[in-house]
Amino acid sequence: MSAVAASGPPSAVLCGLGGWLPSRVVTNEHLARRLDTDDAWIRTRTGIRQRHVVDPGQATSDLAVEAGRRALASAGTGRVDAVVVATSTPDHICPATAPAVAARLGLAGVAAFDVSAVCTGFVYGLASAAGLIAAGLAERVLLIGADTYSTIVDPLDRANAIIFGDGAGAVVLRAGRVDEPGAVGHFDLGSDGDHTEMITVAAGGSRQRSRPGEPSRRERHFSMDGKAVYRHAVTRMAQSARTTLSRAGWKIDDVDHFVPHQANLRILHSAADDLGLPRDRCAMHVEDIGNTGAASIPLALADAAGRGALLPGDRLLLTAFGGGLTWGSCLLTWPELAVPAHSFGQPAHSFDQGEHETS
Ligand code: UT7
Repeated sequence: MSAVAASGPPSAVLCGLGGWLPSRVVTNEHLARRLDTDDAWIRTRTGIRQRHVVDPGQATSDLAVEAGRRALASAGTGRVDAVVVATSTPDHICPATAPAVAARLGLAGVAAFDVSAVCTGFVYGLASAAGLIAAGLAERVLLIGADTYSTIVDPLDRANAIIFGDGAGAVVLRAGRVDEPGAVGHFDLGSDGDHTEMITVAAGGSRQRSRPGEPSRRERHFSMDGKAVYRHAVTRMAQSARTTLSRAGWKIDDVDHFVPHQANLRILHSAADDLGLPRDRCAMHVEDIGNTGAASIPLALADAAGRGALLPGDRLLLTAFGGGLTWGSCLLTWPELAVPAHSFGQPAHSFDQGEHETS
C-alpha cells in the first residue's frame, strides 16, 4: 500500500465505474394499457417516462455481473479483494447474491457479502467498502448496487408499478490517500426502525414463514405508504446532507453536483430546494429509468460521467433514503475516470406484449 499516507488509515478512492440496464423498456403508455393510469399523471407526480425491466428468468445477479464487469474494465483491473452487493431484491433469501456474482466475474475466493439497506444500500455499501480498505482487509473492493423491483412489485399495483425500474451500477474502490481526487470523504448514516412498515415486503421472511397459512397477494408484494415516504425522504435527505457537509466543513455552494437517490423527480427537487441548491446542480436520471433502488446513485454517476458532466476536481454530495427507514450521505471529489459514453451496454428495445406478471 505504497500510495497510502503514513499518517492515517488508507482511504477508499474511486477508480472504476459502470452500469447496466436490462434491454426491455416499459414506457408510461405501456403501463396505461393495463393499469388505470396515464402518462400525464405519472410524469406530473414522478417525472418518470419509462423504466427498464428484466426478462422472465433474469435475476439481480445477472445485472450485477454486467455492471461489475464494466466497472472493472473502467478501473483497468480484473482483480479485487472483496465484492459487496447492495440489494433488497437478492436472487435468494439464502445465500447472499455477492458470492455468486464474484464467482461469475472470475473472483471466486474473495470476500463477498450483501448489504441490505433498500434504496440507501449503495451509500451503506460505500461505507462498508471504505471500512474494509481502512482496516487493511482489502486493497480493492468492487461495490455493486443492483435491484430488480419488477420482481417484487405487484404489476397490478398502479401506485408502485409506475415508480420502479430494474438496473445495476458499480464502482471499484482502491486504497489511497484521503487528499487525492476520488477519495470517499465524510459520511452520515442513519436509520429509524419505528417505520419498518412504511416500505416493506411483508411476506417471505421469518416473520411470515413462522406463522401457519399462506400469505395474501398483498403480503407477497412490495408495499409503500407513498405520502409518508415522500415527507420522510425530503426531510431525512436534506438533514443527512447538511450533517455531512458540516462534518467536512463544506458550504452548500461548495457542492458542484448533488447526486441523490433517484426516487422521483418531485422528491429530488424538494430536497434540492430544501438545501438551497440550484436544481441544475442536481443529477437527474430518473426520467429515463425510474427508481432503481440501490442502483440509482451509481447509475446516475455513470450517466453523468458518460455525458461528460462530471469533471475531475468537481465536488459531489451523494445522498440516499430508503426503507428501514435508512438514510445516508457521502462526499467525494471527482477523479480522472475512464467511463465511456453509453456505458450501459446494450441497445434498449421497446416492449409491447408478453410482459410477465408475478402472481
Ligand atoms: O425510494 C423511495 C421511493 N418512494 C417514492 O418515490 C414514493 C414517494 N411518494 C410519492 O412520490 C407520491 O406519494 C406518489 C407518486 C407515490 C403518489 O402521489 P400522491 O400525490 O401522493 O398521490 P396519492 O397517493 O395521494 O393518490 C392521489 C390519487 C388517488 O386517488 P383518489 O383516492 O384521490 O381518488 C390514487 O388512487 O391518485 C390515485 N393514483 C393514481 N392515479 C393515476 C394512485 N396511483 C395512480 C396512478 N395513476 N398510477
